[in-house]
Amino acid sequence: MYKSIAVGSPKSSKIMSLFLVAEDTRKTPDHLKEDAALVAAFKDPGFKAESSEISSVTDSGIWLGVGGAKGFDEDRIRSVGSRVAGQLSRLELKAVKIDLTCLPKKNRDEHALGRAFAEGLGIGNWRMDLFNGAASRKTEARGKLTVTCESAEFRKGMNSGFMLAEAMNLTRRMAATPPNICTPSHVATTARMLARGAEGLSCTVITYQQARRLGMGGLENVGKGSANKPCMVILDWKPSKPQTKEKLALVGKSITYDTGGYSMKSPTGMKGMKYDKNGGMAVLGAMKAISDAKLPIRVFGVLPAAENMVSSDAYRPDDIIRMYNDITVEVTNTDAEGRLVLADALAYTCRKLKPTAIVDIATLTGGVVVALGHFCAGYWCENGPFGKRIEEAATHSGEKVWRMPLWEAHRDFMRAEHADLLNSNPKRSAHPIQGAAFLSHFVDEDIPWGHIDIAGTSALDSGNDVFPPGPTGWGVRLMYDLAEGYLKDA
Ligand code: BES
Ligand code: ZN
Ligand code: ZN
Repeated sequence: MYKSIAVGSPKSSKIMSLFLVAEDTRKTPDHLKEDAALVAAFKDPGFKAESSEISSVTDSGIWLGVGGAKGFDEDRIRSVGSRVAGQLSRLELKAVKIDLTCLPKKNRDEHALGRAFAEGLGIGNWRMDLFNGAASRKTEARGKLTVTCESAEFRKGMNSGFMLAEAMNLTRRMAATPPNICTPSHVATTARMLARGAEGLSCTVITYQQARRLGMGGLENVGKGSANKPCMVILDWKPSKPQTKEKLALVGKSITYDTGGYSMKSPTGMKGMKYDKNGGMAVLGAMKAISDAKLPIRVFGVLPAAENMVSSDAYRPDDIIRMYNDITVEVTNTDAEGRLVLADALAYTCRKLKPTAIVDIATLTGGVVVALGHFCAGYWCENGPFGKRIEEAATHSGEKVWRMPLWEAHRDFMRAEHADLLNSNPKRSAHPIQGAAFLSHFVDEDIPWGHIDIAGTSALDSGNDVFPPGPTGWGVRLMYDLAEGYLKDA
């Protein structure tokens, strides 16, 4: 593992080339035929150019397989980048030049390929070593890797990719930080530190006492059972010269631990609930990326942070609570806590920050994992143009979403006898939609709003093509691209 990876100049001498090549390339490409060692490495029957497979090392370079030419795209090169990071570090390479001359040229977007490859390298070069102890068997991260390419577009793409991977890795590190350390106040401290390091980014924190005074009954009730009291973190990215009047708000569920409260989870259901803050941590990462790139659009990041615990102070099923926008909610299930903290955050965001669009992101329901697995996130948006923006950002970032319905009937399903709303209908049907329907009551009708449920994508039990098991930082790239999307038509 490298300490850092960055883009270098293609001019410097003595760089090992990485010749990207597809499985279906049967002959050594003509322009490389003179190099006997390279030809031999290519013809080695052991080398099949499968995705992320590397050949033996020659003086002029290494072949790096990208799998079949058909279907070679950003997703594939991201996975190649992620898997090759460890191999390059084991070979102790310090500088490599990506050679694209053997890849199909048709419809090639070199900027997008460069970005995805660098994202992959950055993702693959990450691991959690904050908690290494006396018995750790992890080797220390060593040295720096510089990556370059003749194509200026590919290099530009790589710059964005490394920047995004760094933001995702902040999200992953926070996600993996356990609940005995990552409390709501730890989230606030981290956000403050992020803001301190970035000009134009500011951070304010609504404390537990202030939240109570402001009438945030959702945040107060979910968090009051814990000794680690809740708070709401607000990040504000104010570019010096905004290129658009749009103001985007990103709201992320930040439950630092979800025991379920008195509607307690089973031991197997509780394990891994440190990841219940991943929506908020993705917002944190997106705010880092947006401010690092100095995107000329105003963006807010709002993180309602609380720990859902049991104690004599904790809220209970049957409690009726009053929310920031004066809606009353009968708590039927203390395990449906995410929507309660998000509801206050959404209502506060609408009233005080007055954004022109809002997206919330949350590990909201187990139901969305049953429906969609880890393949994509579920999303809800009844505003056509804003939904299109979310889908475009999803396609561009490779963080895939699938749209679910949200109708008046779903909204009515959340109404209660003794209060305005139920936090969860005891009839367990359409669970993930219930979450979205509940939240919709807390967003001003005239503000385009989308809800993204990342319970299945934000952390993986088993790894996939790009990620090892653990947190993925899902949402950082999508939210960054959503913000950047506004600048294309500004
Ligand atoms: N944090 C959970 C959702 C979750 C489940 C995230 C699995 C990641 C993996 C959420 O607070 C929750 O408990 N949801 C309940 C809702 C129900 C009680 C209305 C669920 O999905 O069962
Ligand atoms: Zn819960
Ligand atoms: Zn939860």
